[in-house]
Amino acid sequence: MSIDEIFRLFLERGASLYFGERVTQTEHALQCAALAERERAGADLIAAALLHDIGHLLHALPEDIAERGIDSRHEAWGAAWLAGYFGPAVVDPIRMHVAAKRYLCATEPAYMASLSAASRLSLDLQGGPFSPTELAAFEQEPHFRSALALRRWDDAAKVPGLALPGLEHYRSILDSVWMAQG
Ligand SMILES: [Fe+2]
Repeated sequence: MSIDEIFRLFLERGASLYFGERVTQTEHALQCAALAERERAGADLIAAALLHDIGHLLHALPEDIAERGIDSRHEAWGAAWLAGYFGPAVVDPIRMHVAAKRYLCATEPAYMASLSAASRLSLDLQGGPFSPTELAAFEQEPHFRSALALRRWDDAAKVPGLALPGLEHYRSILDSVWMAQG
């Protein structure tokens, strides 16, 4: 796998709409990464923001998957696929970005109220707000704060028609955190 192959995934499969929202998968990824960059996140977390939904592109499931009552488990797919190429500071926030939603729903009533209709629908499929035990376990994860930050950018990265830097803007950032051999 290479950064070119990652970009090709976006080019070939990223033009579909982002699950019930008015932006494409690629627009969503670019907006999420731009928010991370604007908040001066490190390269690891900017890379995580760009790649957090790559699992959706890998298995190319239909856009209305949640409406059909299926949890795609895209965070686990994406994290597993990226784990050979990026370290935990990139992969863990991706793996945990759905759990982060469940965490924030349990800890901030206003957060849950602010979710889009599509995000609320998938929340039910993902297990709903965390229990106190689940909350405590989440806070033991070394990158849980990064996962929460990523989640907030993820939720905000749904603005139709925003003009932003393209994928190439992130090549050097991905390069700097890339750890694959050969
Ligand atoms: Fe997302």
